[in-house]
Amino acid sequence: MCGIVGIVGHSPVAPLLVEALKRLEYRGYDSAGIATVEHGELARRRAEGKLVNLQRKLDGEPLGGLIGIGHTRWATHGVPNETNAHPHFSDGVAIVHNGIIENFAELREELKKDGYSFTSQTDTEVVAHLVGRELAAGVPPVEAAHRALKRLEGAFALAIMFRGDEDLIVGARNGPPLAVGHGKGEMFLGSDAIALAPFTNSITYLEDGDWVVVRRNEFAIFDMEGNPVKRKRQQSLGTSFMVDKGNHRHFMEKEIHEQPEVIAHTLAHYLDFANGTSRPLDLPFDFAKLDRLTISACGTAYLAGLVSKYWFERLAKLPVDVDIASEFRYREVPLSTKSAAFFVSQSGETADTLASLRYCKAAGVPIGSIVNVRESTIARESDVTLPTLAGPEIGVASTKAFTCQLSVLASLAVRAAAARGAISSEEERAMVRSLSEAPRYAAQVLKLDGQIEKVARELAHYKHVLYLGRDTNYPLAMEGALKLKEISYIHAEGYAAGELKHGPIALIDEQMPVIVIAPHDRIFEKTVSNMQEVAARGGKIILITDTKGAARATVDTMETIVLPDMPEIIAPIVYALPIQLLAYYTAVFMGTDVDQPRNLAKSVTVE
Ligand code: M6R
Repeated sequence: MCGIVGIVGHSPVAPLLVEALKRLEYRGYDSAGIATVEHGELARRRAEGKLVNLQRKLDGEPLGGLIGIGHTRWATHGVPNETNAHPHFSDGVAIVHNGIIENFAELREELKKDGYSFTSQTDTEVVAHLVGRELAAGVPPVEAAHRALKRLEGAFALAIMFRGDEDLIVGARNGPPLAVGHGKGEMFLGSDAIALAPFTNSITYLEDGDWVVVRRNEFAIFDMEGNPVKRKRQQSLGTSFMVDKGNHRHFMEKEIHEQPEVIAHTLAHYLDFANGTSRPLDLPFDFAKLDRLTISACGTAYLAGLVSKYWFERLAKLPVDVDIASEFRYREVPLSTKSAAFFVSQSGETADTLASLRYCKAAGVPIGSIVNVRESTIARESDVTLPTLAGPEIGVASTKAFTCQLSVLASLAVRAAAARGAISSEEERAMVRSLSEAPRYAAQVLKLDGQIEKVARELAHYKHVLYLGRDTNYPLAMEGALKLKEISYIHAEGYAAGELKHGPIALIDEQMPVIVIAPHDRIFEKTVSNMQEVAARGGKIILITDTKGAARATVDTMETIVLPDMPEIIAPIVYALPIQLLAYYTAVFMGTDVDQPRNLAKSVTVE
């Protein structure tokens, strides 16, 4: 992960680097650092922890210079302290890196034998010394960087800067994203267009295997053999305003509350509410001719894919395989020539999801991506991009991106069902009408936050929580558990309610609340039986249901959160909100860092 930036500018560069890093903090926040060249000399400031610590350091010890590189870190090799913070130096060179150098151990040994000593535990420092060794042998900077790059295996986005040259940064990309930003008499490098948005929206994205020589008034891109390559320059949609929290305490809270609006925007993009139909899409395949759909994603996006399996199979009679991308990419899955593949990702940069996409692409399978960041690598490498219109999601815990992913997938399932003749036009109209009501129900559910806050106050006293659900509520149970563990650090598991008796029931006691997601649906009675099993063993139940379910659930609960009765197809979208609020308030009570929980990053560009 990590975010990197480079600026060859014409005004003091340190504040500009910090501004760009603020916009990259979603990629990691274990430590941060910048380096500049002033009067020919390299200098750096680094600080452990969030960017604010670096800012404080720079206030006390400012850095001059018109050229610089910066980094915000998500630790892979070495603990997140100042010594391991980037930029890393060797004699005459400074480097920032996002990714993992897989052959770093052997390179380290080789460099040690040559007399180089290491001050950090990072893999990045080998790159600095590789370049430094070439410079020491009299190789000019650009060639020195190229020679070093050719020695690297693994994933990297790099920015390299040199002592004595105030008009040169070398960038390179193999895996994690890197973009060149074009200014007037100034040039930029950044992990994404959002980082560069305050300076320019004229962007050239590097492709894997590219490296670039950036100077104030020119740039040149090469492949690893050193041949010049041309990449398209484009206008970025990246917004230059810094998203703020408005009146909310945390981005997560704001993003939860934005859901009625962004779900409405997203659904309106795919559904024609006036005519009661799904909108035609320019897809690289015909739903009617598919024998299979493959969906691959990570984390919350994977769980959105899992919910959609129920929709595609039930409504469109289309078999769906859903996989965690890190498993899919190496499993050597045989793919049908009559299949299509969907990849779901908020950031559009998740390394495992991208690798899965490339696997399917190589097999000739048509690719659709459901992404929130439209200029991301996953979007650019797909045959068709099916955007979620969630707007920037800043909180590390995914909330509005999830419900927007569900909105896209539900709309696609309806489209597929109509295309395959699995539903009549009357049924299609009814489903579109039901989906159009999701924003209204979501808004109603947000009004329950007082009650949910009260439940969370209680939940914050426990160390373990079990989430249960059946059907689409099973992936939702896993999402509830994921949300809770990632921001409150309470150990939580999500299980299919029917699976309880095959093992997890042994965990049930008074110390482990069981949250059951059970709207009054086709299998409600089965879930009630599972709740009885929990109650019989002294388990404390928190039931999330609807009016009908609350009236029919013949079991004592610690608390029942009652949502309005709603059409089945929108339940997974709307029921996501109470589980998000539950995690949010629990984390607030526990005093954790809600928007930037420990050990995590928003965009996961390493495998
Ligand atoms: O950007 P992506 O949607 O590809 O990210 C996938 C996961 O890393 C992400 O959903 C993660 O699980 C969230 N932090 C969960 O809230």
